[in-house]
Amino acid sequence: MKKIVSLLLAVSMLLATFSASANEGMWLPMFIKSLNIEDMQKQGLKLSAEEIYSVNSSSLKDAIVSMGGFCTGEIISNQGLMLTNHHCGYGAIQSFSTPKNNILKNGFWAKTKSDEKAVEGLFVTFLVRMEDVTAEVNKELVGITDEKDRAQKLKEIQKELIEKATKGTHYTAYIKDFYYGSEFYMFVNETFNDVRLVGAPPESVGKYGGDTDNWMWPRHTGDFSMFRVYMGKDGKPAEYSTENVPLKPKHHLPVNIKGVKEGDFAMIMGYPGSTDRYLSSYGVQQAIDIKGPTVVEVRDLKLKTMKNRMDAKEQVDIQYSAKYAQTANYWKYYQGQTEQLQTNKVVARKKQLEDQFVKWYSADPERQKKYRAALEDISTYYKLTNEYTVGNTYVMEAGVRGPDFVLFAFRTSRLLGAIESTKAKMDAKIEAATDKSEKKELKKARKSAVKGLISRLETLSEEHFKNYNKILEEELVANLFDLYYKKVNKEQHPPFFANVNEADFKEYARKLFKTSPLMKKGKMKRLIRKLKLGMKLKKIDEDQAIVAANDFLGMYFGSAKKFAEAEKKMEEGYKLFVEGIRLMLPEKSFYPNANSTQRLTYGSVLSYPVSDRVKKMVRSKDGLDTFFTTMEGLIEKEDKNNPEFEIPARLKELYEAKDYGQYADENGKLRVNFLTNNDITGGNSGSPVIDGNGYLIGTAFDGNWEAMSGDISFENKVQRTISVDIRYTLFIIDKYAGARHLIDEMTVIK
Ligand code: ARG
Repeated sequence: MKKIVSLLLAVSMLLATFSASANEGMWLPMFIKSLNIEDMQKQGLKLSAEEIYSVNSSSLKDAIVSMGGFCTGEIISNQGLMLTNHHCGYGAIQSFSTPKNNILKNGFWAKTKSDEKAVEGLFVTFLVRMEDVTAEVNKELVGITDEKDRAQKLKEIQKELIEKATKGTHYTAYIKDFYYGSEFYMFVNETFNDVRLVGAPPESVGKYGGDTDNWMWPRHTGDFSMFRVYMGKDGKPAEYSTENVPLKPKHHLPVNIKGVKEGDFAMIMGYPGSTDRYLSSYGVQQAIDIKGPTVVEVRDLKLKTMKNRMDAKEQVDIQYSAKYAQTANYWKYYQGQTEQLQTNKVVARKKQLEDQFVKWYSADPERQKKYRAALEDISTYYKLTNEYTVGNTYVMEAGVRGPDFVLFAFRTSRLLGAIESTKAKMDAKIEAATDKSEKKELKKARKSAVKGLISRLETLSEEHFKNYNKILEEELVANLFDLYYKKVNKEQHPPFFANVNEADFKEYARKLFKTSPLMKKGKMKRLIRKLKLGMKLKKIDEDQAIVAANDFLGMYFGSAKKFAEAEKKMEEGYKLFVEGIRLMLPEKSFYPNANSTQRLTYGSVLSYPVSDRVKKMVRSKDGLDTFFTTMEGLIEKEDKNNPEFEIPARLKELYEAKDYGQYADENGKLRVNFLTNNDITGGNSGSPVIDGNGYLIGTAFDGNWEAMSGDISFENKVQRTISVDIRYTLFIIDKYAGARHLIDEMTVIK
């Protein structure tokens, strides 16, 4: 009885502060047995904790991969077939597209395994196991107060633990800190580097609705693509080779095409990238006032500049489509976040929790001593950095990640520096060597080290110029630097701005692109040839591209230093704040911020009250009052004059004939997307939506507008995950693309 009372008390307290609910939370699979499993089973899960996460026997986690470190994929056949989002495969699909064979536009389906296209640089990572190593780490850190010593010790102990965990295997591991350095968990991984493109619908299916519908419900997007993971003949990961064979996974997800009802259990496993759920009210205010609007301001101009040239030429359109989509995605994200942080009154809710925290520690002198400075240090940091946030955001958005040349020039200058220093170091050694054969060996070593560095530069350059249009880039430089100049205080200008004649950035850009060898593929090739011949590059330090790049990167790394003291205190403040609220709310289960480690979120299939604001914007009412959308709405949205809403003729034919085969619902309708109340974020894209039996029912790809503040504060009533109904995915593969052989590979539950 007592327990129930305190539980009730805790729950009502939670409602006042967090509005926490069962479906909020990105849980670590290794803890679900102790934290969540009973609740999950109550909500409809039929599996045991071991069937989801087990170190010793195969479990669901063995079918989930981190795709390239930026998305999630799931294995859906015993031949390594992997499903993910179209927007996750976008870069790969784009890399195989040309104006003559534009698979981004037309789609692609490998008829046989030999038609599958190896994607350079793409890898997938399986989780072998995770482990809480907090005690081992902290044991080594006790008593070390000096920060440098502490960091050094931390590095050493992590290295040791990783070596012990991976010794004698081909696994890799990393340790990450959680709750602002309070806890440490180790993740042991197996990475496969031979991943091939198997199939993708045309963009008009995979990105239907484009940026207009992005981050919004109702949705009608077939956001999926398919890959296959290959392994060496010995069953181990291997670099790409025609000798490799399809992966034999420990587990693959059966595909359930029986359909889902509102209220059905649903969970998602994947790799959410980052959240800021413990952000203070001061941090939220800074995000609303400064960070969000500034990102949007720069990206507005960046997108307009790109679009202008993309519309004029198909080749440029293909080259920049992935860059454009990436920029646009978070351009819209920040608009939504700024708007919804206000609509959802997040500052006030954070304040409430902070007030409760103050009350809690004030009630006890010991606590007071420990926690009193936390919020003050946090607020001081934001006060100090408010005015600098504009400049810092510009450094990042208009500089480091502005025009492509900046990072390219920075990396080039690093490699050139490495070549010079390697030469000097080796020459000194050669000079010092007395023995003739030793001299000879050293000369050989010098040659091969330099050769390796030059070849890295060559690869870097090839990559850079693949998706590069000189005219577009020159316009980006002129426009973005000009905006930077006008919008940011002089103290936060990169030094080279002072040498731009009359702040005429058009003229600056014209000269830069005319004179710097880094701005033109042919000139860069010549530069590399000179290096290969052992020639000295004249005045490369004065190259204006390198000067600008070093200025921006210098500011980027340096700005952190300027507030190092306040930042350190702020971080310690957050650590204490979170530690405190965990003690303050002992009945509540906590989860750490997302940090690209594997997580699980559970809840149910569920509609939500769409806001009036969104209702005014929709092109079709389909999906407004329920948890799913259908082909009817997809067809209704068609707009022949807007490429975002074009529908392929073949899809319309299938619609007219209602030729949905086994994929129709009980009313003969084909469902396209559906909603669950799961807790996901960027990085979860491509994640499997899994039912109570462990079967695949959909692929998660987005969130809804009303909850765009969700990365900072979960929106209990309105936050939803938008997923592709697995039946639509299979319909497109089977009926639209005629790739029945892929369906035959899967384990289909009917
Ligand atoms: N908002 C989605 C995400 O971040 C990406 C959707 C891609 N679609 C698009 N129209 N850009 O995961």
